[in-house]
Amino acid sequence: MDVPSLIWCSCSTHLLCLLFFLRLLFSVLAVLHLLGSLSRWLPSLSKLWFHRCPCKRLWPLAVPLAYATSPVSNFIRLGPRLVLRPLRLDVSTHEPTSPHARLRLFACADPAMSESKCVCIVGVAGFIGSHMLEKIIRERDWTVLGCDMVAPTKIQELLGAEKKWAARFEFHQMNIVEEPQKLKALIARADCVVNLAAICNPSEYIKQPVNTINSNFTDAQDCINYCVELKKHLIHFSTCEVYGRTLSSYGLDAKDEKNWLLDEETTPMIMGPVSAQRWCYACAKQLVERLIFAHGTENGLKFTIVRPYNWIGPRMDYIPGVDGKDDGQPRVLASFMTALMKGEPLVLVNGGEVFRTFCFVEDACDAVMRMIEHPDKSSGHAFNVGNPNNNIQISKLAELMINMYSKITGKPKGTTVSISGEEYYGKGYEDSDLRIPSMKLVKKQLDWTPPTSLETAMEATMRVFIEKYSDKLANLKRSADEAAAAPAKKAK
Ligand code: NAD
Ligand code: UGA
Repeated sequence: MDVPSLIWCSCSTHLLCLLFFLRLLFSVLAVLHLLGSLSRWLPSLSKLWFHRCPCKRLWPLAVPLAYATSPVSNFIRLGPRLVLRPLRLDVSTHEPTSPHARLRLFACADPAMSESKCVCIVGVAGFIGSHMLEKIIRERDWTVLGCDMVAPTKIQELLGAEKKWAARFEFHQMNIVEEPQKLKALIARADCVVNLAAICNPSEYIKQPVNTINSNFTDAQDCINYCVELKKHLIHFSTCEVYGRTLSSYGLDAKDEKNWLLDEETTPMIMGPVSAQRWCYACAKQLVERLIFAHGTENGLKFTIVRPYNWIGPRMDYIPGVDGKDDGQPRVLASFMTALMKGEPLVLVNGGEVFRTFCFVEDACDAVMRMIEHPDKSSGHAFNVGNPNNNIQISKLAELMINMYSKITGKPKGTTVSISGEEYYGKGYEDSDLRIPSMKLVKKQLDWTPPTSLETAMEATMRVFIEKYSDKLANLKRSADEAAAAPAKKAK
């Protein structure tokens, strides 16, 4: 064989070897991919089987199967990303945390874990913020950059229980109005921004209307502008109060659904006169919605607006004198709990004649998760997020809570007292009559329906309030009784 033929022969042998090796590599990768996909679905299949399988003796096998397969799936899907991801800071020490902490992810059995994300939550230390944080950390492998102007007491309880969260959560105590550049830096690092920061307690709308308008409109603008500039998905929290009062409350036919059912696309927004200061909150929220919408059409902002309908759950608001101002007036859930735990009558504003639909915060946060995970379906929309099955008159809510409190604690049933809105909140108080959300849009776009009944949500919430506060309130009462008895003792 001549030299060129020899060279050609050797080259073609090498080429063939290389091709063979590449083919082998691709086959191995294909098998791994197949295994990854299979193991990803096995947990859900086994869960399904767990619920459906008629042979009860085989049920116990389903859960171990789910847990055994998910580490394989999570390792194959998340391993490289986790190794490459930069270290996060510990919330309390601000020291880098061990990357090994992330190994725990491999034990998560939820096959719904999707693309890893970084979410910036503004107002993370409040009621909804604390639940969004908890849900993200427990159920996803995402990172959360949180900020709030108050100390992280509500979330510290959660972090305290599971220090391992620190690997995926940063907290910055800051006022977004005073530190806009810091806010911008956080937004720059996130894929998506959830803005919850606002004054949102009706007693404040009357006491500090200027702050209420600024907080809900003016102070939200930096966040919006940074999302426009940095091209981030903004999920902004508005309120169901933007609808104002229903058409039926103005005398239109109550039998016609369109006169009371609140629909994102068709219902007009009707509020009282300017002197009825209660509506300053709803007007500010409505204007900020319109501004966000305008940035969507003019500047391409990717946005989603959330209109919550009285979300309730643990960690909502505060108990006056315990972890809030002595003379504070929290929203109705915490107000009624305060009265029940103090053994005082529950105050019914204007007889408690109006209605509210209450939604369990855990269900509601699931809707927000869907918005974050499916920007293609959530962008450009304002969504009602509430539970139309949990519609109740406030006087009936008081009754329900009185009975439930007595059932849980074994104490005698509480009482109610009626008071005018002006006397309770001050001049300018008006009220929404009925707030029932249309579920059409949220069901169509996000396939979301809230499963939890009012009774279940209320019992779970009340038990947490009782566990957290009843001892503290009893101690306060004892000290007050002792202080009151002291002068009498001295006189003797
Ligand atoms: P919340 O008061 O518990 O939480 C709001 C958080 O924002 C607080 O922790 C507060 O400290 C923070 N914040 C306010 N201004 C800030 C600032 N300038 N800088 C940094 N942090 C700031 O209220 P929530 O119930 O969690 O409500 C969150 C959002 O949802 C609000 O925008 C509210 O209007 C809206 N909303 C809530 C409900 C509900 O059912 N809870 C209903 C309708 C609308
Ligand atoms: C609130 C706030 O405006 C916002 O946080 C939010 O936008 C909205 O609810 C919401 O959660 O969707 P509102 O429902 O009026 O508005 O607030 P609550 O303080 O929870 O009051 C509910 C009803 O109970 C009102 O009619 C109020 O007058 C009444 N109430 C409240 C009482 O009868 N007694 C109380 O002690 C407190």
